[in-house]
Amino acid sequence: MPKKIEKKPLKITKNLGFTQDLLNWGKLNGRKSLPWSPVSGKKYDPYKVWVSEIMLQQTQLKTGIKFFKKFIKIFPTVENLAKSKLENVLSVWSGLGYYSRAKNLHYTALLICSSSNKKFPKNAKEWEKLPGVGFSTAASISSFVNNERVPVMDANVLRVFARQLMFDEFIGSTALKRKILPVANKSLPLDSKEMPIYTQSIMDLGSIICRPKNPKCELCPVSNYCSAFKTSNIANYPVRKTKLEKEKKSVNWLVPYTSDSVALVLLKNTRLWNGLWTPMQILSHSQLPESASFVKKFKIPISNFILEISIWSVSCTNKSSYKSAKWFNKKDLLNGAVPSTVKQALCSDKFFL
Ligand code: ADE
Repeated sequence: MPKKIEKKPLKITKNLGFTQDLLNWGKLNGRKSLPWSPVSGKKYDPYKVWVSEIMLQQTQLKTGIKFFKKFIKIFPTVENLAKSKLENVLSVWSGLGYYSRAKNLHYTALLICSSSNKKFPKNAKEWEKLPGVGFSTAASISSFVNNERVPVMDANVLRVFARQLMFDEFIGSTALKRKILPVANKSLPLDSKEMPIYTQSIMDLGSIICRPKNPKCELCPVSNYCSAFKTSNIANYPVRKTKLEKEKKSVNWLVPYTSDSVALVLLKNTRLWNGLWTPMQILSHSQLPESASFVKKFKIPISNFILEISIWSVSCTNKSSYKSAKWFNKKDLLNGAVPSTVKQALCSDKFFL
């Protein structure tokens, strides 16, 4: 049974016991050989840290590392990225999703390389002005590359503090972030040289120890300070809202095909997959050609809705009948600026037998 505790009004003093214990833990147990980590004693490369933090915004670390290595091999410097065509950047990004991140990286690389001093920002406020860089991403980048005393506030870190202080505001709410910000500020190490290791340690603590489910409190270096742990309330924090049913949207994909290729169109001015090649989207059944045959139906979650896609194929003998389409053989499809959902759906079943 969770113990009830009287909550005292929160007085935020410096949280230095927490900070020191966390740093000691991070120095021993934290992640030190990420592909963007500097060689011991050297500084972080702002280009690599920026790319990695943008990639990790909506991506698990393991996938992020795999894509980061591929990305940096193809675009090793900000100049290489700026000189590349957006379509090539999107091809390399295919499989990671949330393509606006790739577009923002490319656009920002162009901005940086066209300015007279070609410099990356020098503090979090400046980093935050770049497209796709919010408060937490700016803080984590700047703490790594500028040793700036600013608090990272990603989902892992928010969970750590919500449990430490048993904040009752909902996970993901602005109210929770507002409550945590002063605590996170007070927990920063006094010596700015410790900022990179502090930021890495608190993110690692959140993802390795203070996990959403089955946290490893027995291994936690800061359980001493954790109200939720001390009162056996870990499972109740952070407080979750009951899940709402996600809205469902339906669409038909029409896929003209020959023996070795499929026709795709370039999406323009769309919220989802803008600038990528996908099958033609037909909203109503009645607009499908009579000769189209049903292939399969599947659902994919897209941020705040579920997209239900029905695929229809139509055999084609004259490629020029689809004027705005481009024809992709299997290799072009797999390497192209095509969402991974489309790659997966078309590289099976009826097509490319
Ligand atoms: N998530 C975002 N940045 C990260 C980092 N540097 N290490 C681990 N997880 C992260």
